[in-house]
Amino acid sequence: MKTHTSSVRFWTLAVATVTSLSVAAACTSTGTSTGTSSVSPSGTELWSQHCSRCHNIRSPSEFSDSEWDAVMLHMRIRADLTGGEARSILAFLKASN
Ligand code: HEC
Repeated sequence: MKTHTSSVRFWTLAVATVTSLSVAAACTSTGTSTGTSSVSPSGTELWSQHCSRCHNIRSPSEFSDSEWDAVMLHMRIRADLTGGEARSILAFLKASN
C-alpha cells in the first residue's frame, strides 16, 4: 500500500517535470532564434566556448589555413556547431594564425 502511493506520487511528479521542461524548451528555442539574429557571439567567443570542451584549446597559430579547413570539417560535427558558428570560428582562426 505504501509503495503504491509513492509510485503514484513519482509518476505525477515525473509528468509535471516533463511538462514544465517542454514548456521551458519551447521558450528557450524562441528566445535563442531571436537572440542569434540580433546579438551573435564572435568567432573568438565561440572558439573559447566550444573548442575547449573536449580537449585543451588549440591555438590558431598551430595550423595553417588549409589545415584549419580540414580540422573544422571534423570539429564542426563534434562540437555540433551551426554553419554560421563554424564559419565565424574558422574566420577567427585564419585571421589569427
Ligand atoms: C565533442 C568533443 C569535441 C569538441 C567540442 C571539439 N573537439 Fe576537437 N577533437 C575532439 C577529439 C575526440 C579529437 C581527436 C580525434 C579526432 O581527430 O577526431 C579532436 C581533435 C582536434 C584537433 C586535432 C589535433 C591534432 O593534433 O591533430 C584539433 C586541431 C581540434 N580538435 C580542434 C578543435 C576546434 C577548433 C574545436 C571547436 C570548433 C574543437 N576541436 C571542438 C573532440 C572535440
